Amino acid sequence: MRVTGKCLLCIVLVAGFGAAQSVRPEGTLRQLAGRRGLLIGAAVNVHYLSEAAYTRTLAREFNMAEPEDAMKWAALRPCENCFDFTDADTIVNFARLHDMKVRGHNLLWHSYNPDWLMQGHFTSKQLSHLLQDHISHVAGHYRGKVFAWDVVNEAFDENGKLRNSIWYNQPGISRPLESQNTFFIEQAFRWAHAADPQALLFYNDSEAEEINPHSDAIYAMALDFKTRGVPLDGIGMQMHFLRGAPNYDSIAKNIKRLTSLGLQIHITEMDVALPVDAAGRVLHVNDLQWQANVYRHIAEICLANSGCTALQTWGVADKYSWVGWATHHTKGAALLFDKNYQPKPAYKAIKNALLHTAYGH
Ligand code: XIL
Repeated sequence: MRVTGKCLLCIVLVAGFGAAQSVRPEGTLRQLAGRRGLLIGAAVNVHYLSEAAYTRTLAREFNMAEPEDAMKWAALRPCENCFDFTDADTIVNFARLHDMKVRGHNLLWHSYNPDWLMQGHFTSKQLSHLLQDHISHVAGHYRGKVFAWDVVNEAFDENGKLRNSIWYNQPGISRPLESQNTFFIEQAFRWAHAADPQALLFYNDSEAEEINPHSDAIYAMALDFKTRGVPLDGIGMQMHFLRGAPNYDSIAKNIKRLTSLGLQIHITEMDVALPVDAAGRVLHVNDLQWQANVYRHIAEICLANSGCTALQTWGVADKYSWVGWATHHTKGAALLFDKNYQPKPAYKAIKNALLHTAYGH
């Protein structure tokens, strides 16, 4: 290959740009988090791993990764009797290569399920077998590679009632007598524990960060599980802030009551949505500072409680985020890096929290 003088200059510039980006006097996010014993993660989409800026930012700034979709039923189970681990394995291998821990997401959810499962008219007994087989197979495949699983995702609604699902009550995996309670959740945790006794097992949910009927139901289940020895290790708090700032005191109290049960807290899917124009540009400049404050508050709350062991954002940079889709493209710009992978005020805010927040006890 002939390298022209012009092209050579390009290469030098690109290399220099990369180097300048990586030299931050106070250290990268993962370096600072590592010193505090905190896992700092990002949801990863396999489609973007071919983009150099994406992978560079991911590996440089985060010490934990979670497949955004690749471990969900619809991705792993194209048909009843087959598994396709290709995309999930690609993410796991990337993470391991870059010394990042992997969170698994998820083994049971009412959403993102394949059509053959949803429209298969399976009996309770058949569903029970399918679920047990799925959990054993998937958690077994990733034994020793996935350190923590979201075993069950979003089983309760905002009123604290169990949501309708094939696993719970339509028809549900359990006998009728047991189907009106958390038996199916307990069962999933027991199967996951049998498949990988070392993995930390989490219940993950959204809009249950503050004290409210939703988080009360999760707390009641957690207390029951801990009392009866069901293998539950932690609660995942999604923290998708799509509609303004949360009540920080209430979040801290909720984290405290859960960690008092001996549970870990992982902040699993954080993003802080801002109003954007059709091109995805932030409408008000001050919003970036407001957003930074939200991130900083949450990081401080997590750091102040030693049971809060991970903080993860739902994506790497604003270029790719589910928020646009979730808000009909009225909001976006919700992550720590902008569309060009440049750090935003929120990035600096989390670093400040890591540098200055006192240790939790
Ligand atoms: C979202 C993904 O970001 C999208 O790519 C996908 O189309 C739908 O799921 N709560 C969860 C995540 O637990 O799995 C969801 O992820 C966002 C809400």
